[in-house]
Amino acid sequence: MATNITWHEGAVSRNEREQLLGQKGLTIWFTGLSGSGKSTLASALEQHLLHLDVTSYRLDGDNVRFGLNKDLGFGPKDRTENIRRIAEVAKLFADATIIALTSFISPYQADRDAARKLHEDSGIPFVEVYVDAPLDVAEQRDPKGLYKRARAGEIKEFTGISAPYEAPPNPELHIRTDQTSIEGGVKIIVDYLKERGFLVPKTLIN
Ligand SMILES: Nc1ncnc2c1ncn2[C@@H]1O[C@H](COP(=O)(O)OP(=O)(O)OP(=O)(O)O)[C@@H](O)[C@H]1O
Ligand SMILES: [Mg+2]
Repeated sequence: MATNITWHEGAVSRNEREQLLGQKGLTIWFTGLSGSGKSTLASALEQHLLHLDVTSYRLDGDNVRFGLNKDLGFGPKDRTENIRRIAEVAKLFADATIIALTSFISPYQADRDAARKLHEDSGIPFVEVYVDAPLDVAEQRDPKGLYKRARAGEIKEFTGISAPYEAPPNPELHIRTDQTSIEGGVKIIVDYLKERGFLVPKTLIN
């Protein structure tokens, strides 16, 4: 790590920015098996928030791996680095008063805890959403055909098949997508955001 660098404090506080833009920044961190519904829920939530006049921005597994993280693979070390970078980027979006929606399997508890700490140390709310579908349901959905390929041995280190998934013990929200509709999942999240005062009043008119 570079040692000859100094953090340059800006003149505009986060609070001022939030006042100006009329919304609060935070990160909603979706975690769960492939096919559990992270991207589906994040997209539906993004749409819903837009209707409430709230700007959110999705950071999604594959998309980020096309660009920022295209140098990373799926071994434990690269997965950790993948999540570390995403957490840093989500934090930047949240600091800029946007609701960052991250949808990554993020299978390791230690990595998610590090993402949480990064946010909380900066006073930025971090909402961990466990998107939970039993493995057999996720495998049956198999929206990208990945489970089929993993079972055939074509994909190494596939979460749930040949790589571990550590379920979060204390997520802010736990959504069973085999028992709750997509709309139901979005409602659970929006209700939580409202309860916590994360959606500022003008958005509550709708
Ligand atoms: N209640 C539900 N919530 C979310 N998705 C659901 C639900 N019911 C069915 N689905 C379906 O499950 C699939 C979930 O796929 P999605 O791509 O969102 O998973 P993912 O968690 O983002 O997986 P990956 O980690 O591979 O990106 C979609 O085809 C979606 O339509
Ligand atoms: Mg996805």
